[in-house]
Amino acid sequence: MAVTREHWGSKLGFIMAAAGSAVGLGNIWKFPYITGENGGAAFLILYLGLVFTIGISVLAAEMVIGRASQSDAITSFKKLETPGWSIIGFMGILAAFVILSFYGVIAGWTISYTLKMATGAFAGANGGEIENTFISFISDPVSPLIYAGIFMLLTMLVVLAGIKGGIERAGKILMPLLFIILIALAIRGMTLPGAEAGIRFYLEPDFSKIDGKTVMAALGQAFFSLSLGMGVMITYGSYLNRTENLGKSSWYVAFLDTTVAILAGLAILPAVFAVGLNPAQGPALTFITLPAVFEAMPGGTFFGTLFFLLLTIAALTSSISLLEPVVAYFNQKGFSRTKVTLISGVVAFLLGIPSSLSQGVWGDFKFAGKGFLDLMDFVSSSILLPVGGLLVSLYVGWVMGAKAQNEMTAGEGKSLVLFTWIFILRFIAPLAIAAILVNGLL
Ligand code: PHE
Repeated sequence: MAVTREHWGSKLGFIMAAAGSAVGLGNIWKFPYITGENGGAAFLILYLGLVFTIGISVLAAEMVIGRASQSDAITSFKKLETPGWSIIGFMGILAAFVILSFYGVIAGWTISYTLKMATGAFAGANGGEIENTFISFISDPVSPLIYAGIFMLLTMLVVLAGIKGGIERAGKILMPLLFIILIALAIRGMTLPGAEAGIRFYLEPDFSKIDGKTVMAALGQAFFSLSLGMGVMITYGSYLNRTENLGKSSWYVAFLDTTVAILAGLAILPAVFAVGLNPAQGPALTFITLPAVFEAMPGGTFFGTLFFLLLTIAALTSSISLLEPVVAYFNQKGFSRTKVTLISGVVAFLLGIPSSLSQGVWGDFKFAGKGFLDLMDFVSSSILLPVGGLLVSLYVGWVMGAKAQNEMTAGEGKSLVLFTWIFILRFIAPLAIAAILVNGLL
């Protein structure tokens, strides 16, 4: 049995922690390259549409479940006397492991880039040389794994330090700093000679580029970026006091997360064109483009080092939120926090090995046309998370009913927003998610 439940120290603490989970590699590494692969501006619009309808509603729904039950994502449903729905939590644990495994690999890249930047590895390099440095690094069978291991150790350490000590403090101080550097980068990226083509690519929509697969990618990205569909926000919501209006909290989180993604797009996509790279080159995009932007900037070595350091920390505030639900569940079952943290971290690390190798020696193994890392990402972000979100919508919309509405507003009464929220959860989200999955998979 868990002892008394810790709560967040303040309202801001909760929002920053939830935003800390949301803002991470998904915004700065993944969003720009997915946007690049899916045609730019039209994808951006589609993404925004999904975040502010389905995404934000599911976000609030997860917080509602967590706060109403004061429990982790599996125990919640038992507390609310609907044990069958615990499947949401179990699927979430599966998704958490899959995501954590490849997340650790990419976060390892950011640690390595912090050091590369600090030691001036890119000084005077042109686009091609920066690209070669990246490729020879990620295709090495050993060194990326060492960095992935270091990152996983850091994740385990923070989770062990407990909820207030670790998670909350990290979010409050460092997120604003990352934000400021990103603004500077966006300004530099957009003013590089030759960036106009990239700005047009990112901001002038060409809707002929949208098809079933694009919509599925946008939905998957919305869930991934907001940390939805796997019980993270249920767990975080469970550490929350009864007085918070969850509708407002979910707005803040979605707004922050989206602003960071848009800024990252502005920092990276125009620069891609300026440096003469291909926007559709996938996971390498951020790592090849940004060093080039830093090179073109006064104080680039300093800002580049700081940036990758902050990105590592942003990844850490997300990875701890992937590990925390697993630990919270087994902890409540009576297992020691230390033991569960250790075992889960090691399992996720081992699962990440094939993802890392898929960037080099195992590059030729393809499953359904995807390398291992891409496959893990696709299965978790584009399938498991949306299915989780669909179930959360049905649960809060139809099963919790009036109880969910009271929980949402902390007793402030009914409103149009509340009505819209329930309507989206009951009808729009389940139907749209199902349609997007079926259409995208066929
Ligand atoms: N939202 C995080 C990011 O954008 C990743 C994440 C996904 C974290 C799912 C927790 C749960 O980097």
